[in-house]
Amino acid sequence: MNDLNTRYGLNPAHSEVVEACRIIEPCDALDMGCSNGRNALYLSQLGFNVTAVDANPNAINMLRSIVAQENIRNIQPQLYDINQASLDADYGFIACTVTLMFIDSSRVDAVLSDMQDHTVAGGYNLIVCAMDTDVYPCPMNFPFTLKPDQLSTIYEGWDLVKYNEDPGTMHNGAQLQFATLLARKPVA
Ligand SMILES: C[S@@+](CC[C@H](N)C(=O)[O-])C[C@H]1O[C@@H](n2cnc3c(N)ncnc32)[C@H](O)[C@@H]1O
Repeated sequence: MNDLNTRYGLNPAHSEVVEACRIIEPCDALDMGCSNGRNALYLSQLGFNVTAVDANPNAINMLRSIVAQENIRNIQPQLYDINQASLDADYGFIACTVTLMFIDSSRVDAVLSDMQDHTVAGGYNLIVCAMDTDVYPCPMNFPFTLKPDQLSTIYEGWDLVKYNEDPGTMHNGAQLQFATLLARKPVA
């Protein structure tokens, strides 16, 4: 399912996206901070209808080029600044993998609240984000990092299908903790 990624020199989809898709049925999905589309392409091949947003025009243009070359009908790449926290549609699945730490720290609460508001009842949010803790001080100069239990607290009332704050390694070898959350919005 990562054959398109290989064809265009992209990494395989994030492992947490792959794992989440074992339980999430194809639906309207939002890939927040899609870069050049490794997750969007994966989701699209599974039958999700994907809105893929990023603030980097080069990334969006590359994804648009792949979408055009492959005649893909179910990915809509869009230039969007996540800091705006102004989503204009609702989704069954919102994925935000290794992107939240690049957001303006003063906007993170608004961004997460907007994501939650624009998730349909019974829909899912997937977040993977760098942390800064006493045990693993974050060695990277990210604009934002999570504190212990911060993300799980924000998702109180949702079903935490998966939640951990495990240590991990960045592409550059830096060791830090990541919060990984797959949460399902309650059905009212
Ligand atoms: C490390 S990449 C992660 C890409 C993808 N989610 C993945 O799992 O491979 C972070 C992405 O977030 C995007 N980004 C950073 N700040 C953003 C913002 N304010 N609005 C939209 N995208 C942003 C960057 O352009 C970059 O493509």
